[in-house]
Amino acid sequence: MTITFVGHGYVGLVTACVFADLGNEVYVIGHTTEKLNKLKNGDPIIYEPGLQEVLKRNLDSKRLHFTNSYEAVNKSEVVFIAVGTPPKPSGEADLSTVLEVAQQIGKNLGNHYTVVSCKSTVPVGTNRKIEAIIKEVVKTADFDVASVPEFLREGSALKDTFEPDRIVIGANNEKATNLLLKLHEGLTGERVTGTLESAELIKYAANSILATKISFANLIALLSEKVGANVEEVLTGIGLDRRIGNIFLSPGVGYGGSCFPKDVMALTHIGTTLGVDMGLLHGVTDINLAIKDLFYEKIKATAPDKNIGVWGLSFKPDTDDIREAPAFYVIGKLLEDDYQITAYDPEATENVKRLLRDKISYSDSAADAAKDKDALIIFTEWNEFKQFDLNELKKLLKKPVIIDGRNIYEPKKMKDMGFTYASVGRKTT
Ligand SMILES: NC(=O)c1ccc[n+]([C@@H]2O[C@H](COP(=O)([O-])OP(=O)(O)OC[C@H]3O[C@@H](n4cnc5c(N)ncnc54)[C@H](O)[C@@H]3O)[C@@H](O)[C@H]2O)c1
Repeated sequence: MTITFVGHGYVGLVTACVFADLGNEVYVIGHTTEKLNKLKNGDPIIYEPGLQEVLKRNLDSKRLHFTNSYEAVNKSEVVFIAVGTPPKPSGEADLSTVLEVAQQIGKNLGNHYTVVSCKSTVPVGTNRKIEAIIKEVVKTADFDVASVPEFLREGSALKDTFEPDRIVIGANNEKATNLLLKLHEGLTGERVTGTLESAELIKYAANSILATKISFANLIALLSEKVGANVEEVLTGIGLDRRIGNIFLSPGVGYGGSCFPKDVMALTHIGTTLGVDMGLLHGVTDINLAIKDLFYEKIKATAPDKNIGVWGLSFKPDTDDIREAPAFYVIGKLLEDDYQITAYDPEATENVKRLLRDKISYSDSAADAAKDKDALIIFTEWNEFKQFDLNELKKLLKKPVIIDGRNIYEPKKMKDMGFTYASVGRKTT
């Protein structure tokens, strides 16, 4: 098929590359000349494992095209909207870009049947708004709208797109659903088809339950510290119950990223405006904030000397994405307390420099960030940190103090090696 994506971020670029790889003719519309030129030259702009290779392969095969023109819409059977839907201060999703893009798509629809599919995470009712906007712009076009929410995870986005657990398609009729089922034929995963409203709600509900699992694990971590239990043992003990499962039941310094915080807030907003008591999700957000504050307090209590190293800035490993990364919140508070911070992240440093500039120092290696520091703080569980030689780390640090927001080391081993080791939901040793 010939298909178009509007937006070339983590979702648009990855899914466009995957559909090109499956043999489709794919156009990607962007609005920044500099980024489009980089993409045309094989630079994926974002860090995502394996992406550069797939991008290059499909540029070489001439199945993947980057453009700032909406003309591509005209020849496409399916047009995906994959632009951002950031939160407004109220928590409500900001749909301005989605709706603006819908208008442009409407103006450029061809004389043949097209399905305009929204991949962006949007509140229930948005696809009907998109439909109304397009109908207003072009009275006679032969089109349907569809909601095809995306579930990829940054860091494993390509694998998740080639081998998703499920593909959700919400549409008004079978014609649109069947065309999208055909487009997705080369991908694995269960198919879930239904109404526009169901598909829109599935996405918010899925992210909210994942965030709920994390906040629940953090609540149990907090209780574990109070009662002298080890949260990892507690969560293993409950997660082995197949009704519960242990995936995502992981304590830490809170969830971040461009999705969980905003999607939990957006679903809370949706429910509240409909008169539904959203106390459960208020609790999820409150715990996530509290856990970051408690981690900051733990750093202050464990590392009173203020020349510290930081490992990890991205909101999770294997991505350069720093949106809503817990590290930022905590670093911001530490800076107010006059901590001097030297940070290292394998991929996110350039993004952080653009925001924090010279407020902190940056290292080119994990070893350099730890060298001669009064303490080391771990915010992200990159493999590089898990595998770091702890004997070397002890020699590098001025004081052998580690405050670990991701529980990547064993407290007993750290104690035996002579570290002061504070982690989450476990006794400081
Ligand atoms: N990042 C994820 O892991 C993920 C996973 C599932 C769903 N989502 C959802 O998918 C959507 C996109 O997320 P993302 O992470 O890819 O965002 P992103 O910020 O990485 O990308 C957004 C893209 O939209 C482009 N854009 C903005 N305004 C535009 C305009 N007027 N015209 C054309 N392009 C424009 C930007 O240049 C960028 O390429 C969001 O709704 C998000 O919630 C994200």
